[in-house]
Amino acid sequence: MTAQFRPRRSALYMPGSNARALEKARTLDVDCLLLDLEDAVAPDAKDLARTQVVDAVTAGGYGSREVVIRINGLDTPWGETDLEAAVKANPDAILVPKVNTPADLQRIAHKLSVHGASSGLKLWAMMETPEAMLNAGAIGACGRDPEVRLSCFVMGTNDLAKETRARLTPGRAAMMPWLMTCVAAARAGGIDILDGVYNAFQDEDGFAAECAQGVDMGMDGKTLIHPKQIVPCHAAFSPSEEEIAWARRINEIFAEPENAGKGAIQVDGKMVERLHADMGKRVIAIADAIAARS
Ligand code: COA
Ligand code: MG
Repeated sequence: MTAQFRPRRSALYMPGSNARALEKARTLDVDCLLLDLEDAVAPDAKDLARTQVVDAVTAGGYGSREVVIRINGLDTPWGETDLEAAVKANPDAILVPKVNTPADLQRIAHKLSVHGASSGLKLWAMMETPEAMLNAGAIGACGRDPEVRLSCFVMGTNDLAKETRARLTPGRAAMMPWLMTCVAAARAGGIDILDGVYNAFQDEDGFAAECAQGVDMGMDGKTLIHPKQIVPCHAAFSPSEEEIAWARRINEIFAEPENAGKGAIQVDGKMVERLHADMGKRVIAIADAIAARS
């Protein structure tokens, strides 16, 4: 885990039709870039967006940022062309919109091999339809099948609200069962999961509250729509100094010879088990990966 750990605290969407944003992305301190060909691009701008995104990814200059291209669905006039173009551009991953079933991902994975995709190219799945919520476990299980290359879920809360008619209210009460189901499905499949976007990008308090909620839910990070959301997002999704210190301390305590045979010990009036030490190791790995990035 330590060697492969890649921070995915923040993933900034940008319309592929926006050349200025594609350029600016090379300078933003963000973990992942979601270069969009789908919903953020108007039908008339689809071809321009595809060309600009392919040129930008091919030109490179994105450093340690993880570069992901969101294609249009295969049931649209642009999907097949997007897929072929994205494979040629060879980003870190292709984000598949509106996944309903494992077969949707398997079909795309098959096309990746047909187009000769590099073995490192991964698939990410938008979880944003009612069908996907009902099939979350089966879709997440694709994470265990190397042929499907699935490595991350992205919650599409705006589409989910549209399709279900549930409302996106502060606290997201109506969304919580689906969000947590997808967290469980992601963990069962051994993949990461990123929370949905916060539309009111001028509302700093509302955004901070929703980031904190995502952290509590176990999300690995959050999708963003505006550069000003990056700093508060990283503040929420990076382990705090206290968490890191606690993680180091309980691992040191378990490493002491007198605790070698113990499964549970007391530290500062709290029960600490070996599973907490394991969780601490993960916190340390995340902190190290973040430090190595910057
Ligand atoms: N990615 C990269 N740069 C972005 C950006 C983004 N998502 N959103 C804004 N910027 C840049 C602008 O280009 C501008 O740069 P500049 O001043 O150096 O020229 C700067 O940040 C300030 O932008 P601002 O004027 O505050 O926003 P805007 O009115 O231009 O754009 C949105 C607002 C919402 C239209 C825009 O942020 C956006 O397109 N977001 C992403 C939408 C998307 O991809 N949605 C799909 C998934 S939900
Ligand atoms: Mg969507």
